[in-house]
Amino acid sequence: MKIRLFLTAVFCLCTKILPASEPISLIPLPTSVQQGEGTFRFSKKVKVAVDAYPGDSILQVFSRFADGFTATTGVKFSNGKATKAQIRLKHNASMAPEAYSLKVTTEHVVIEAARPAGFFYALQTLKQLLPSRAAMAGVRLSAADRRPEAWTLPVVTIDDAPRFAWRGFMLDEGRHFYGKEEVKKIIDVMAAYKMNRFHWHLTEDQGWRLEIKKYPKLTEVGAWRDSKVLGWGDTKPDGERYGGFYTQADAREVVEYARERFVEIVPEVDIPGHSQAAVASYPEFLSCDPEIQHEVWLWQGVSTDVINVSNPRAVQFAKDVIDELTDIFPFPYIHLGGDECPTDKWKGNAACNEELKQIGSTNFRDLQINFYHQLRQHIARKPAEQQRSLIFWNEVLHGNTEALGQDITIMAWVGADAAAKDAAARGMKTILSPQIPYYINRRQSTLPTEPRSQGHGTETVEAVYNYVPMKDVDANLREKYMGVQANFWTEWVEDAKTVQYLMFPRLAAVAEAGWTPQELRSYPDFLKRLQAEPAYYDLRGVDFAKHVFGTR
Ligand code: ACM
Repeated sequence: MKIRLFLTAVFCLCTKILPASEPISLIPLPTSVQQGEGTFRFSKKVKVAVDAYPGDSILQVFSRFADGFTATTGVKFSNGKATKAQIRLKHNASMAPEAYSLKVTTEHVVIEAARPAGFFYALQTLKQLLPSRAAMAGVRLSAADRRPEAWTLPVVTIDDAPRFAWRGFMLDEGRHFYGKEEVKKIIDVMAAYKMNRFHWHLTEDQGWRLEIKKYPKLTEVGAWRDSKVLGWGDTKPDGERYGGFYTQADAREVVEYARERFVEIVPEVDIPGHSQAAVASYPEFLSCDPEIQHEVWLWQGVSTDVINVSNPRAVQFAKDVIDELTDIFPFPYIHLGGDECPTDKWKGNAACNEELKQIGSTNFRDLQINFYHQLRQHIARKPAEQQRSLIFWNEVLHGNTEALGQDITIMAWVGADAAAKDAAARGMKTILSPQIPYYINRRQSTLPTEPRSQGHGTETVEAVYNYVPMKDVDANLREKYMGVQANFWTEWVEDAKTVQYLMFPRLAAVAEAGWTPQELRSYPDFLKRLQAEPAYYDLRGVDFAKHVFGTR
């Protein structure tokens, strides 16, 4: 009903021809936008010519777009000869992998790109150029409500390509579990903003969320705990049985969904720290104290109950988990965590002390590095199609990383700018996900409407927008910077609606940092363009921070 009312209003507006000066609200801002006079008006039937590409994948990209577009607008597409077509998708091998050009005249729409991803991004831009956010949100209307003739595009020439190859978002489902439909919504919005890496933080002290067939207790035991709310300060565990996990079939479904939207999934299994849920599932070989009782953690913070990296069965466990991750997630990267791993348990453990002697170190952090070294060797022995590149949080730099080589990626969060430079100087690749301000679970205002979370309200959308990635980095290190990522930690956030409230529209600010050249970025201009987004969030069914738009 709400959708119907909204669209009626839109159609009243757009039955008039939109003036050429109608502002274009694109996020992320393209590299070049030149608006002309007039509009392209869709008719009931539109002829399209799509260039051939291996696996028909440009055609697949267009077909998926067309299905959604027809469901919203009623416009039907049919194949036409290149000379007769109103919409033309032209393969241009000379362009960069994710680049595209989109030229709209009163008669034609011509898209050029080298790869399917470029065509996909051109079509995201095309949807943002329409007079309503309904097609972008994938709204399906009854045949009676569709009005092909009401849909127009402004005459415009856009040349566009991303600044960075990595434009990511991380969701922590270890602390709280939301389920695949919520994850799909996030992937939809990411794709609309041309983000391309969904980092899925699947394990924590407080919950293990992915079925691993060889270790069923990880989800029989490790996915459940005796409190929904995580204790912190005056907040005590509530005693409610709480949990959930993804079966491998669920995870594969999300993989397919993401692939169709040019989003790669980066699964994270955070080991050997942040692993109390795993330790509680298999204390007999994962714990340094197998004889005592272990439970999935009910508290926030950093547990000292870490994996015993010197137990060969624990190393085998990690290899087996990597094997299953490799099988489920057909993408180049696996994240093994590595943050906040207390070494207290190792210091009191005979096997750990013995191993430290053997590797000739006195730094217990090097046990963690040696653990990862064995996992890297395990991956290196796999066939080419199962090779995976490893990502770690930046604390790993506190160990002797020579044993890991340069072919790893450091995700920089604490002291992010300095850590990223350190990683790049060691020859590693790096991704910027600075805690301040890119942890978009943190409070974004001091208003009473602000949900409970970490921080003091200073991570505003403006602060997020104004972070400058790769500032003052020497030219010779710049090629190591893969891009940017927003992270969302969920200690305080029990429901998906609150996740959305906190992440939108701040995610849009990070998307623009990842895509748009720094010299074109301006917060006042972004804020103007952002005014079109509440309609999109409403139609897609995601919550957002209303105060950013002057409403509570
Ligand atoms: C982290 O915030 N512990 C990576």
